[in-house]
Amino acid sequence: MGSIYVDSPMTEEQRRHKLYGGDLFSYSSGQGSAALCALARQLSEEAFAPHDPPTAQDHMPAEEYAGILADLKPRFIHHPDAKKFIGALLAEVGCDVEKTYFDVPRLRTMAHSEYMKAGLALQFHPHRDTWFSAPYAQLNWWLPVYEVEPENSMAFHFNYFDNPIKNSSSGYDYDEWNRTGRQQAAQQITKDTRKQPEAEEELELEPDVRVVTPVGGILIFSAAQLHSTVPNTTDRTRFSIDFRTVNVDDLVSGNAAANIDSGCTGTTLGDFLRASDLEPLPEELIDRYKVPRAPTPALR
Ligand SMILES: [Fe+2]
Repeated sequence: MGSIYVDSPMTEEQRRHKLYGGDLFSYSSGQGSAALCALARQLSEEAFAPHDPPTAQDHMPAEEYAGILADLKPRFIHHPDAKKFIGALLAEVGCDVEKTYFDVPRLRTMAHSEYMKAGLALQFHPHRDTWFSAPYAQLNWWLPVYEVEPENSMAFHFNYFDNPIKNSSSGYDYDEWNRTGRQQAAQQITKDTRKQPEAEEELELEPDVRVVTPVGGILIFSAAQLHSTVPNTTDRTRFSIDFRTVNVDDLVSGNAAANIDSGCTGTTLGDFLRASDLEPLPEELIDRYKVPRAPTPALR
């Protein structure tokens, strides 16, 4: 089983190693994460006015709600301040901003009850991001924008960190998805017909682990960690921010979580920007990650 480190004084290098081995890390809100969440709240409140974002879904049909999200989410993703705040957040928790690259932050929503379960509010089945062409050195960062509870958060399935799952990732290529999948998301409100990597066997999802932090609290986990969105049985929509990071030294050395079951092709590395100056990764390094990665043994 993995451990959850809270406000750990560990060095960033040690932390990456622990994350690649299946542990989770959580940090209290700092100035960077508080500013990032405040930006997300401000944009959400403007978009849903006069309604409070966590309960706005109770006041409009799903189609109208989807239309607001289709405008709100890209506004957050491309807001110049969001990138600035992520750089500050990363520096505050010990990352070297010259060696750490991040992709743009996403604002995600999970409506409560049966309101909308596809397209932009897609309810993710249990998955590893590494089934979706993420590099094995990728770390995922997750922050709640409004208060969360176990019943509208995210679940980790630690049992599977070391255990392969039969899955359909070998049919997935990130470049192909980029060409066709994304444009279709905005048109799909209640039914999702896009092909996504998923488990092809019955999974034992309980017991699971849910980490509940205050607003602006930070959760970090490996892209190889099996995780899922909890069906939201509260009466409030979940709003969260997530983004991913890679450390360039680890990409070069191959220091990363193990590949125990993924067969996808392509790489998401072209989306990452250096925290210090928003430069992309070197092209030749990205190319090295376009081929499927050979299976490697688990770290622990
Ligand atoms: Fe994920």
